[in-house]
Amino acid sequence: FTPQTLVGRRILVTAGGTRERLDPVRFLTNDSSGKMGYAVATAAREAGAEVTLITAPTKLAAPASVTVVPIQSTTDLSQAVLARFPQADALVMAAAVADFQPEVTADQKIKKTTGNDEFILKLKKTPDILKQVAAIKQPHQVTVGFAAETQNLLANGQKKLASKSLDLLAANDVSRSDIGFNGDDNQVTFILPDGVTDQTPKTSKTVIARALVDRVAQLLADK
Ligand code: PMT
Repeated sequence: FTPQTLVGRRILVTAGGTRERLDPVRFLTNDSSGKMGYAVATAAREAGAEVTLITAPTKLAAPASVTVVPIQSTTDLSQAVLARFPQADALVMAAAVADFQPEVTADQKIKKTTGNDEFILKLKKTPDILKQVAAIKQPHQVTVGFAAETQNLLANGQKKLASKSLDLLAANDVSRSDIGFNGDDNQVTFILPDGVTDQTPKTSKTVIARALVDRVAQLLADK
């Protein structure tokens, strides 16, 4: 890890699991703790970048000297990213973004009714934020995604990298309980647009984040 490689760069990082509201007291979400994204924000700051961390609710303390933008839903996240991306040199999307959201959010708490033994919830697709970003991306900007996979890590990762026009993708196997969601460790396979892949050892999210930040610095330097 090389300190100060990102001095003068603005890095946007997303973290945590988005919350899709059913009603005022209930939401759909996932197991993301935010640790991976917070580690990336911290590493980017250590490398000298001006960092904005857009975060879904987590139990984590805000990293020092980082601008924190709290969001809840995928729609909020999309608006926050699209508003800030034009001023950023790089975006790292570590957030675990819901793929579907309730078609309707009830204004009042949904009640049980007598005679209703089931409740059918209709979901609609959320916006794909990295695809929205790809549409406005400028040649000097770097975009990095993660891929949370339970099978075919490489093939699915490669598809996501191409469909979201990314410069780098970190694929992690979220079927394992010792890496991926929640824990302090991770193991990722970095995938580049030319097909080159590089698997890290299983190590702390801090070390993975520093390796990712080194790659972002190199990609920016190469642009
Ligand atoms: O938070 P932790 O507990 O530390 O866990 C870390 C992590 C497992 C959440 C993290 O390492 C990770 O894999 N983050 C990405 C999770 C995810 O949403 O993966 P995906 O394969 O569904 O999406 C691929 C990429 O597209 C991601 O960069 C995602 O942020 C982005 N995306 C997804 C859906 C959507 N509607 N818009 C997006 O931009």
